[in-house]
Amino acid sequence: NVETKVDSVLALMTLEEKVGQLVQYNGSWDLTGPASAMNNKQKEENLKAGKVGAMLNVLSVEATREAQKLVMENSRLKIPLMFGYDVIHGYTTIFPVPLAETASWDLEAMERTAEIAAVESVANGVNWTFSPMIDVSRDARWGRIMEGSGEDPYLTSKVAVAKIKGYQSNDLANPRSIAATAKHFAGYGFGEAGRDYNTVHIGENELHNTILPPFKEAAKAGVATFMNSFNDIDGTPATGHKILQRDILKKDWDWNGFVVSDWGSIPEMIAHGLARDKKHAAQIALNAGSDMDMEGGAYESSLVSLVEEAKVSQEYIDDAVKRVLRVKFKLGLFEDPYLYANPELLNEISFEEHKNVARDVAKKSIVLLKNENDLLPIQDSIKKIAVIGPLADDKDTPIGNWRAQGEANSAVSLLEGLKNNVSEDVAISYAKGADLGMGERSFLMPLKINETDTSGFQEAINKASEADMVIMALGEDAFQTGEGRSQVNIGLAGVQKDLLKEIHKVNKNIVLVLINGRPMEITYASENIPAIVEAWQLGSESGNAIADVLLGDYNPSGKLPVSFPRAVGQEPLYYNQKSTGRPSNPTHVTYSGYTDEKKDALYPFGFGLSYTSFQYGDLSISEEELTPGSPIEVSFSLTNTGENAGKEIVQLYIRDLVASTTRPVKELKGFEAVQLAAGETKTVTFEINEEMLQFYTANEKWESEAGEFEVMIGGNSRDLQKLKFSLKK
Ligand code: IFM
Repeated sequence: NVETKVDSVLALMTLEEKVGQLVQYNGSWDLTGPASAMNNKQKEENLKAGKVGAMLNVLSVEATREAQKLVMENSRLKIPLMFGYDVIHGYTTIFPVPLAETASWDLEAMERTAEIAAVESVANGVNWTFSPMIDVSRDARWGRIMEGSGEDPYLTSKVAVAKIKGYQSNDLANPRSIAATAKHFAGYGFGEAGRDYNTVHIGENELHNTILPPFKEAAKAGVATFMNSFNDIDGTPATGHKILQRDILKKDWDWNGFVVSDWGSIPEMIAHGLARDKKHAAQIALNAGSDMDMEGGAYESSLVSLVEEAKVSQEYIDDAVKRVLRVKFKLGLFEDPYLYANPELLNEISFEEHKNVARDVAKKSIVLLKNENDLLPIQDSIKKIAVIGPLADDKDTPIGNWRAQGEANSAVSLLEGLKNNVSEDVAISYAKGADLGMGERSFLMPLKINETDTSGFQEAINKASEADMVIMALGEDAFQTGEGRSQVNIGLAGVQKDLLKEIHKVNKNIVLVLINGRPMEITYASENIPAIVEAWQLGSESGNAIADVLLGDYNPSGKLPVSFPRAVGQEPLYYNQKSTGRPSNPTHVTYSGYTDEKKDALYPFGFGLSYTSFQYGDLSISEEELTPGSPIEVSFSLTNTGENAGKEIVQLYIRDLVASTTRPVKELKGFEAVQLAAGETKTVTFEINEEMLQFYTANEKWESEAGEFEVMIGGNSRDLQKLKFSLKK
């Protein structure tokens, strides 16, 4: 058994070798953080000496084999390395960015894309992904909101489990699956003012009820590793947070994998003002339960002396090392250190099949936000289409940020997708109109936006005025979202809005296709443009998937996993807010709102239209009172009242009316995709049980409280029918 094996290896190890297992080096092929001072020669020597436990950003079977060989042929104990990489939404085949993919609400599809990402990773020597990112994020200014599953802890939890299953399969030793990472533990999505790496001010209640649930589910699902986060929470950097890592994660949740730090987050505790120097940072981090130091150089330089000085206990070191060894054993690396560096695998993979999956999930991720007068799907009478906008023929932006080895400019652009799929008698013209991002674009560099050059406008105006319909592709460059890409403006950047207004003067028949990674402020478009399609950054097959929806080959079914604001000043904005003591007042200003804008979302969480319409019948409840062990059911009929077959994601929300701490005005507690033919009716039933009513109470425990609740059902978080029920205990 694994534990015996772990113990037997541990028994052979010197302190130096133990510390080595807690060190992770960047391969320096690809920087995803600041470059370290150590040169490659020195890194090689340390690998040979068994002073390194894992690497990141070493890409290709040959490169990982080479590094593994250094360890296997030179070190005393020959403990194999793990190779980590940010495989966030695909390795070579690129799927929608995670926020977009979540909009499909299709857990099976999300599991499948993780499975594909895993096998493509293995085919390139990678056996560990730093994904899924399950930071609940409610601030559209934060660039990394694209990398998570949005604002809701329940939906994020479901996606987390699906992703972990997809990456890891049911058996970590399966040589087509890889170890996953639940990140960033914790609070990273709550940085003040949406600024990356910024301080997080949250209390116990928010921490336990909103931030931790997806992590708890990830731990339960057996995720192999956790990554901690850069931010400070209420005075303690997450990397040095003992309560989070040692008490909650390892003790209360009884999780036995290992915690890797974020890149350099251990020595960053010096800048935070918590640690005096690197050595002090290492002491704080290890004692707090951070097991592996990613490119921080703190553990390798200080842990041995910290143990000798009794500032870090041998017991803590052993625990950390055992965690690392356990994952390596489970991955099967001790049996075959080259298990995940199989040069044959690349030839066995069907990239064609992966492409089909990418198109399928991409079309499911599209959200139809507005469709006045049924402008969409494009009617047969439309014979001349002008495709306009900086993102219309952009083959790079749909690949998104955190693109692993997704090749630059490799996506099917919207223009290409339309041309591939439109019938022969439709003429398509194209004008870019303007540039969005300019100059060099890369992971680490700031992006320069075109704020002034409108020289392409006239050509676009001419093409638009000759067309029956205009499809405009606007939004965000791939490098406007992602790490370090926080923005104070979340509208259409640069000259895009001016272009939209100019086109609107000559042709009102506009379909705005948004290509972006964060919720955007699109109030002008929402008021003036008849059709709006949220097409996110959809990955390799983007253009084909968008064409599937625009042409009606796929009836859109996506629903927003985040609220779209009316103005950036509403951020952070989310549906599951608290009521406050002054939720509304029709006559005076003295309530919790704004004097210059409404307080609700322009497009709320869970929102998305279809080419058909759905009617919800009245709710009925099996009993008005439930007790632990005796769930009740809420049922309703759902009818497709339109003329096309369609899929509706029905959503169940619950409100706890009076509790020992204040509770959100509604919380998602269930959802189901219901497929209906035109005219068809189905009865939908959800169970409500006592577990669904639990939360972190004033007793500092997960439990339910007897009392009254509301159950709400609908097709988005705003338009809901409700009924009351109670819990008796
Ligand atoms: O996995 C990432 C993390 O999310 C942000 N900092 C760098 C890590 C490794 O690339």
